[in-house]
Amino acid sequence: MAANPRPLVAGNWKMNGLAASVGELAKIIKGASGIAADLMVCPPATFIASFVHAARGSTVTIGGQDCHAEPSGAHTGDVAAEMLKDAGAVSVIVGHSERRTDHHETDAQVHAKAMAARRAGLTAIVCVGEQRAEREAGKTLDIVGRQLDGSLPDGAGELVIAYEPVWAIGTGLTPTAADVGQVHAFIRKCLGERYGVAGGSLRILYGGSVKPSNAKELLTIVNVNGALVGGASLKAEDFLGIAGVYR
Ligand code: 13P
Repeated sequence: MAANPRPLVAGNWKMNGLAASVGELAKIIKGASGIAADLMVCPPATFIASFVHAARGSTVTIGGQDCHAEPSGAHTGDVAAEMLKDAGAVSVIVGHSERRTDHHETDAQVHAKAMAARRAGLTAIVCVGEQRAEREAGKTLDIVGRQLDGSLPDGAGELVIAYEPVWAIGTGLTPTAADVGQVHAFIRKCLGERYGVAGGSLRILYGGSVKPSNAKELLTIVNVNGALVGGASLKAEDFLGIAGVYR
């Protein structure tokens, strides 16, 4: 059994944030000291470089929300992992359910993006999670297992997994602690099968309606090594309220 990895609380700002939002980042940086977890903000691509600059010298790191699988080329509107790295990001979310739904991304594409992150020297945060109908049909572990099989990068190395039940994202609904624990234990087992002992120390985040009011219950479940936070990450006070569980 590997030692517990240091927790990670990452904020996924999604398509939110204008110039005034820089103030929230400043508050997060200020409030980060004393929290025994890594804090990360994943803003829209327009902010990566300026947020990296603002966070320099602090314990807060910056990540992207998606990347293209290719390092460069004729792909209008896309951002390469190498570009995120060049701008100072340390990580990139791949396979978020909103990308899987809005852009019909397949496990094979998510795998290619996770490999691109590796190639560029970024830590991929690979997202998996079932739809409501899949949970109701008792297929959660099948779905999550299939997504892991198809999406995870080849070979052990830096990697974060985020379990985000699609029906819990932005709805205020969360699975029971027992259900979260069951899925995280299953993911841990899959990581061991795939990467051997290295799989024991990879961080598995929970995401989906994490708020200051439920953070303690969710983040103290075995094999939950942090959170991927959407809506509540847009307000420094709420984000720090969640990360503050690790104080
Ligand atoms: P919410 O925290 O808004 O439910 O979003 C979760 C999420 O999708 C993070 O990636």
